[in-house]
Amino acid sequence: MSIFLFFVGSWLMAVGRYTWAYFSVPGNVVKRWNAFSVLFLSCFSLILVTFAQNFSILMKKQLNLKVENLKKITEQHILLSLVAPNGDMPEIKAGQFVEVKVDNAPTVFLRRPISVHFVDYAKQRLDLLVALVGDGTRKMATLSVGDEVSVLLPLGNGFPMPTKAGAKCLLVGGGVGIAPLLYLGDRLKAAGHQVSFLLGARNAGGVMLEDEFKKFGSLYLTTEDGSVGEKGFVTNHSILEKEQFDEIFVCGPTPMMKAVAKYAYAKNIECYVSLENKMACGLGACLCCVTEDNKGHNRCVCSEGPVFNINELPWQN
Ligand SMILES: Cc1cc2nc3c(=O)[nH]c(=O)nc-3n(C[C@H](O)[C@H](O)[C@H](O)COP(=O)(O)OP(=O)(O)OC[C@H]3O[C@@H](n4cnc5c(N)ncnc54)[C@H](O)[C@@H]3O)c2cc1C
Ligand code: FES
Repeated sequence: MSIFLFFVGSWLMAVGRYTWAYFSVPGNVVKRWNAFSVLFLSCFSLILVTFAQNFSILMKKQLNLKVENLKKITEQHILLSLVAPNGDMPEIKAGQFVEVKVDNAPTVFLRRPISVHFVDYAKQRLDLLVALVGDGTRKMATLSVGDEVSVLLPLGNGFPMPTKAGAKCLLVGGGVGIAPLLYLGDRLKAAGHQVSFLLGARNAGGVMLEDEFKKFGSLYLTTEDGSVGEKGFVTNHSILEKEQFDEIFVCGPTPMMKAVAKYAYAKNIECYVSLENKMACGLGACLCCVTEDNKGHNRCVCSEGPVFNINELPWQN
């Protein structure tokens, strides 16, 4: 609530200041109104974002989880294990994400969206694989066992399960985009489908958690320098020519997802991608995460995605 009041106060002050400055210098009326509406809209959307995040707490989508373990996986990645002390971990679908509140970080106002890496219901544990890229994620890496973390969950739609029995599924990930694929592999295997992972990294140092992935399916690797697995990008791997898959699920950098989508279009394979547009509220309120679909409509990645069928996206060309 204090952050909410801070936002409202500081943005109202900013609007006042800019409006006064703008109207005190000469200029035409249309330009003045444009400037005013931009300021008004940005102020309004920030208030909305903060309100939505606080409102969702009232809607009981918020849990205070406890840090059970924090493991450094590489120089740039941590595995954060959080437990629900009251045994109230909600049902979570593979591909859904959470919004993590980062405490004691003065530059980090909004929660950070992180994919669900794994859920162990028996232990009431949620795992997050986090790449340390900025203030928010680096602050997460300083958490200690027993610390409380406020998490909004589960958010987004998740990957759909194949309708065909025993479907041959290829799960393709690049960089930290491998995060949602472990839990997806677990869910697919539990539903009787055949799972293969095709994971790409820049070099051997970026290859993570191989033994975990092998628990749920075959593992194929590529590195750009050829230090582990086949050399090149995931789309260069020989498995794509050797095997025929029924469904493909992808998460990673957009150029990689587009390249895999091109392969899927060409082979007429059902393919789902998980987009990682920048987000603020994570709840469909602020519209800062929209992406254009193949009909020219803006789609909210946080609430209508992050998973989309490639046929919904303008990626055909
Ligand atoms: C649905 C979804 C799921 C995600 N899942 C994961 C995950 O499982 N693990 C993980 O490590 N990260 C994930 N991300 C990305 C993660 O949210 C950002 O890396 C994080 O918010 C950065 O916060 P920061 O404060 O550390 O960095 P900031 O200071 O906010 O930014 C640091 C740098 O990271 C870049 N950045 C910020 N947000 C994103 C983003 N959404 N995508 C790409 N680059 C970004 C910024 O442009 C900047 O260059 C996910 C994002 C989305 C939208
Ligand atoms: S992040 Fe606010 S609408 Fe998607």
